[in-house]
Amino acid sequence: MNGETPLISVKGLSVHFGLGRKLFGEQKVVRAVENISLDIPKGSFFGLVGESGSGKTTFGRAILQAAPITKGTIAYNDGEVDYDVASLGKLDLKDYRKRAQLIFQDPYAALSPRMTVRDIIAEPLEVMGLTASRKETDRRVREMAAKCRLNLEHLRRFPHAFSGGQRQRISIARALVCQPKFLVADESVAALDVSIQADILNLLKSLTEELGITFLFISHDLSVVAHICDHVAVMYLGRLVETAPTRELFAAPRHPYTKALLSAIPSLDPDNRGQAQKLEGEIPSPTNPPPGCKFQTRCPHAIDICRTEEPMLSQLGVEHDVACHRWEELFEDQAPSIVSAQVPEARPVSEPVSEPVPKPKPEPAPAAEEEPMAPEVLANELARMRRKNRIAIAVSIFALLALPFACAM
Ligand SMILES: Nc1ncnc2c1ncn2[C@@H]1O[C@H](COP(=O)(O)OP(=O)(O)O)[C@@H](O)[C@H]1O
Ligand code: SF4
Ligand SMILES: [Mg+2]
Repeated sequence: MNGETPLISVKGLSVHFGLGRKLFGEQKVVRAVENISLDIPKGSFFGLVGESGSGKTTFGRAILQAAPITKGTIAYNDGEVDYDVASLGKLDLKDYRKRAQLIFQDPYAALSPRMTVRDIIAEPLEVMGLTASRKETDRRVREMAAKCRLNLEHLRRFPHAFSGGQRQRISIARALVCQPKFLVADESVAALDVSIQADILNLLKSLTEELGITFLFISHDLSVVAHICDHVAVMYLGRLVETAPTRELFAAPRHPYTKALLSAIPSLDPDNRGQAQKLEGEIPSPTNPPPGCKFQTRCPHAIDICRTEEPMLSQLGVEHDVACHRWEELFEDQAPSIVSAQVPEARPVSEPVSEPVPKPKPEPAPAAEEEPMAPEVLANELARMRRKNRIAIAVSIFALLALPFACAM
């Protein structure tokens, strides 16, 4: 991207899963990832977004050599080693596991309840034989725990004693203790409260900068990605539909799917709320994807060619690619105010989140003064009320007189 060899370079990657046994005829195939090519630059915080089922996890797992690679290549180059990830031998795979790590999505399920925090963080070091003695293991565990804002007391406890945010910090310490060069964080903050999310994102960002790690940050939430990633790739039904530097993607999205995802982010500007481009319908099944553009079943701009021909990625700028037959004309048609109005202000995560200044509420309109009644209308109204009262009194007297007879019966 900037002339430097990317840490990860993916070319034509496909990951297919066969469904069930093939008895007669064709076996059903899930095309979870289809023909994706992209580069992840060294030191970048690279976001991968898309709805659930778009193939993000499978893509991340394939890069970590944890999903079967059906087609394509993944090159890893951190300056020390240069690997073809799809065809690693046993020894190189062991080394690659040390260099490329995963932070799990669910901090509750990821940590063994029977191990202390010290043992959880130390496990990768021990399994991979990265330390010579228990003393060295303890030193590295303590160092990494401190970086992740865990203290010595925490190391003696079991995971159940911790909150979701603290557990995620334990998971991060465990992933970082082997000093990896590349981290995949798959929906790592999705299970946490918003305030804890900010804390974990800040920690990830500062650790990445301090330790020089390259990050693949997988999320369905574009607003989280906007605040932490410097580059974003958007996936839909196993395909890459758009990729660009974060600011550019938010300021000038070109793919209708990206625009729909962006407009789903709640706007703080009340004048802007009506302009959301709704994403109707469900993502189709990857076992039976539609022909042509995979987004054609939900795209408001689909025309004949979209139903027959799959759009290829075209390069708009140095780092901006989009796969849509109509991106040029749709972008020209788009009023700039609509696009720019939807851009959330990207801010460094280290800055405190400033509360939006509430707009002064409009004064309630004074109640309209009631018109005084005309004298003849007033007299009629009083007569009507008196009649009503007389009827009510007569009914009550009749009921009282009838009561003894009713009791005697
Ligand atoms: N091991 C598997 N076997 C069969 N299908 C799978 C497997 N893993 C994922 N899939 C399917 O691949 C598609 C993409 O899944 P996934 O990568 O988890 O998407 P995302 O992370 O974007 O939600 C989904 O339809 C999912 O059901
Ligand atoms: S190729 Fe056609 S259907 Fe696909 S996103 Fe572009 S306009 Fe929509
Ligand atoms: Mg996923």
